Amino acid sequence: MVEKQENTTGISIFYFDKDNRPTAQQIGETTKLYADVFAGHPWYEVNTCADCGKHFGSDSSIETPCSNCGGVLAPAYPEEQTRKQIEDFFDKPNATMYLAESEGKIKGFAWGFLRETSELVSTKFAGENSTQFSLAIREAIPQERMFYINEVGVNKDLRGRGLGKLLVDNLLTIANQLDVPAALTTRIDTVLTPICLKTGFKQTFGQEVVIGQNGKVVVTGRTLVGLKDEPERTFFVRSNL
Ligand SMILES: CC(C)(COP(=O)(O)OP(=O)(O)OC[C@H]1O[C@@H](n2cnc3c(N)ncnc32)[C@H](O)[C@@H]1OP(=O)(O)O)[C@@H](O)C(=O)NCCC(=O)NCCS
Ligand SMILES: [Zn+2]
Repeated sequence: MVEKQENTTGISIFYFDKDNRPTAQQIGETTKLYADVFAGHPWYEVNTCADCGKHFGSDSSIETPCSNCGGVLAPAYPEEQTRKQIEDFFDKPNATMYLAESEGKIKGFAWGFLRETSELVSTKFAGENSTQFSLAIREAIPQERMFYINEVGVNKDLRGRGLGKLLVDNLLTIANQLDVPAALTTRIDTVLTPICLKTGFKQTFGQEVVIGQNGKVVVTGRTLVGLKDEPERTFFVRSNL
């Protein structure tokens, strides 16, 4: 059974989990939307180097050399592989997905799962400054597990109408039900940043951002915990305590 929420704007939000998966059609549309959303600002992930993993924008071409390491560029989110990743996501603990549909088309997505704190630390923050990150994460998340929000995206034609925030709010109700903190990694220049700052998340690392008087995101110039190699990456936690 599909849970469905209607709102006044003609957008429907559908809930999915491992026992209640999207149809092949819905996964297909989400796969395309995913590639489209991350091809745009501020990600520009159109092609990826097979060797170093660096992403390149629409001015790059597949099968040309990577300017970083000389490896070969390939599409960042090839359809088959991306579809499989989305399907495989449901194998993760408490995997939860919300899809937004308008006029019969998927226009937004958000998903997250129950993640071990130690696994997050060792996989996402293993490089330089790993001890510093580990301490900062442990301080922000004393619990063993969190609800980790890994993807949120809205089609360009529906942005700025509250849909992204609504999708995140839906995932936060799952974190509340599981009684664990919610956490995510993003860049400070995505619209996920104002969403986090407005839904009770606290920033743990990276360049500090706040909501200014005009409601816009302001970079304070302070760095919370260093992320030297990736200056725009940040980590948000919403405590359940
Ligand atoms: C992030 C994303 C999903 C947000 O979706 P959205 O539907 O446009 O966001 P919302 O309309 O819910 O806006 C949320 C809040 O951010 C604010 N906001 C919206 N656009 C903004 C902008 N360009 N700059 C600053 N703040 C903005 C809004 O004021 C809103 O706050 P409010 O409800 O208090 O008014 C969408 O921009 C997107 O798909 N971006 C590309 C993919 C991405 O970066 N995903 C997140 C990282 S994984
Ligand atoms: Zn490379």
